[in-house]
Amino acid sequence: MQKLDGLMREVSALKPGALEANLEQAQDFMEMVQLYNSAIREITTKLEILNSEFNMRYDHNPIHHIDSRLKSLPSIVEKLRRKGMKVSIASAKENLTDIAGVRVVCNYIDDIYRIAQMLSTQDDIIVLRRTDYIESPKENGYRSLHLVVSVPVFLSNGSVAVPVEIQIRTIAMDFWASLEHQIRYKSSEAIREDEALRKELKRCAEESTALDRRMQEIYQRLQQGKQDV
Ligand code: GTP
Ligand code: MG
Repeated sequence: MQKLDGLMREVSALKPGALEANLEQAQDFMEMVQLYNSAIREITTKLEILNSEFNMRYDHNPIHHIDSRLKSLPSIVEKLRRKGMKVSIASAKENLTDIAGVRVVCNYIDDIYRIAQMLSTQDDIIVLRRTDYIESPKENGYRSLHLVVSVPVFLSNGSVAVPVEIQIRTIAMDFWASLEHQIRYKSSEAIREDEALRKELKRCAEESTALDRRMQEIYQRLQQGKQDV
């Protein structure tokens, strides 16, 4: 009750018109959340359909699992500030392509390119950016295929093209990236700056690349064996 009293006092101390402006912004924000969540659902459904159809046709699931997230308000604000851009809902919509994020974790390297190809060639999808960190891994060893696509979301008053960032990677790449992410964001500066640890992490990335390739070769031989019997 005391908290509510405090809030009421803060609201009554606002300049005339400020409350209305805040409410309008809150409404804009809720509309943005609704729009980008819908875009995530559109993309996730497309991926699930491709996965199940592929399974029916070839008896193999290219996708192991799909994760998705909507960028939080604090990270939207932080990114706009970092890039020296205006902090507003309109600016976020205009300048950020990773408000809606989908991560597709595949079983094999080949599956990544298959999924990317099957999604990219759909009539209503426009590929805005494609970055292949598998062909050219990052200096730290990071590998994944990144796509930024635009997908239409159909609303009551027409359709809106919404950008979605899609990261496609194998289980091994995902395992590595989550460990690296932990070190980068959840460790002390001493650990982050530890050169030996960084080298060790890069060696892990190289070994996981070799593992991905060997597993894929074994799988291909299994497939070949199936056709021969
Ligand atoms: P951001 O400004 O960070 O979004 O980078 P960008 O717009 O240049 O895109 P990029 O494709 O480099 O990275 C987009 C996203 O991929 C990041 O937000 C991470 O989720 C992931 N990512 C990119 N590089 C790394 C990396 O080195 N390690 C890990 N763990 N994730 C990465
Ligand atoms: Mg990004």
